[in-house]
Amino acid sequence: MDTKIWVVDRVDKNVAATSPQIIEAASYLKKGEVVAFPTETVYGLGANARSDDAVLKIYEAKGRPSDNPLIVHIADSKQLQEFVQEIPDYAQKLIEHFWPGPLTLVLPKKNGLSTYVTAGLETVAVRMPAHPVALALLKASQLPIAAPSANLSGKPSPTLAKHVEQDLKGRIAGIVDGGPTGVGVESTVVDCTEEIPVILRPGGVSKEEIEAIIGQVCYDQNILDESQKPKSPGMKYTHYAPDAPLTIVDGSPEFLQSFINREKRNGKRVGVLTTEENKDKYEADRIIICGKRSDLKTVAAHLYDALRKFNEEPLDVLFSESFPREGVGQAIMNRLLKAAGHKIVAQSRFE
Ligand code: TXA
Ligand code: MG
Repeated sequence: MDTKIWVVDRVDKNVAATSPQIIEAASYLKKGEVVAFPTETVYGLGANARSDDAVLKIYEAKGRPSDNPLIVHIADSKQLQEFVQEIPDYAQKLIEHFWPGPLTLVLPKKNGLSTYVTAGLETVAVRMPAHPVALALLKASQLPIAAPSANLSGKPSPTLAKHVEQDLKGRIAGIVDGGPTGVGVESTVVDCTEEIPVILRPGGVSKEEIEAIIGQVCYDQNILDESQKPKSPGMKYTHYAPDAPLTIVDGSPEFLQSFINREKRNGKRVGVLTTEENKDKYEADRIIICGKRSDLKTVAAHLYDALRKFNEEPLDVLFSESFPREGVGQAIMNRLLKAAGHKIVAQSRFE
């Protein structure tokens, strides 16, 4: 399949629903094709959420397990009435405060969408993205758009159009290239079917930010203790892993360097994921810089590109610094731990 690429203006992102590239990309969506597009979190792989055929093409292109439901993207919260039964008061407050933005709400569903979107669940996940290109495309198509992250299943989510091309060129009808996404980690998924809302996946909006608006919120047990079964089907799958095994090291750069030295003595090629502040403190075969640890938002923005860079040359062993689990740090550590298959060593245990 030929994958059409539409480049939209990266400087003036205020692209309109009437611009020619957007109209053409929207016409593909209306025909039931699958089109990747930028959101403020990661690139999404969109299709008409009302059409079984279109939604099935998403699962096929990604190689996604069919029991993992998709997020529906809308441009106007009025569209919720079409496929959501009721919206609790706290969810209404979250909508008013955080939409458009990186927050997905899980709500009781009504018929109206393809059943493949919800993978047989009685609930549906919905969000209104904050990216002007995503909003323009949603408005031009006049459709609710089901869209998972636009990566092959298991790979890091795409934060650049080139990541989408690496994974899906030839497998999808088109890609709208709107430059780098911004937030860099996916939306926060909140289950709004309980009296007290539950964060199923930490993401672009932090628990602290949510609590400031509606008070008590809790984490799904699986986020704090990985041995517990997650409530969100997608959280049980291995994700984001680079080709070489990755270990997170929670300690000083000197402590991390001692792990690198041991591998080097065994003739291994070693990569390290670090930050602007510490980049000169390591000797390794590949040093990848992922934002500033003094500003965790910059780490989130570069994390998936950094994980993909590890695969650009042959490396045997990878190490990453650890990050504080506050604000977006909770999402960063959730994704890094998945990428590392939960291998983490703490300096405090050696002291
Ligand atoms: O930022 C994002 O959320 C991106 C952009 C493209 O919007 N999308 C994204 O979609 O990350 P995906 O499919 O990669 O992740 C969706 C997550 C999965 O963990 C899935 O299991 C969960 O949301 N999910 C979807 N519907 C659900 C439901 N009804 N109940 C519980 N979890 C649900
Ligand atoms: Mg994903």
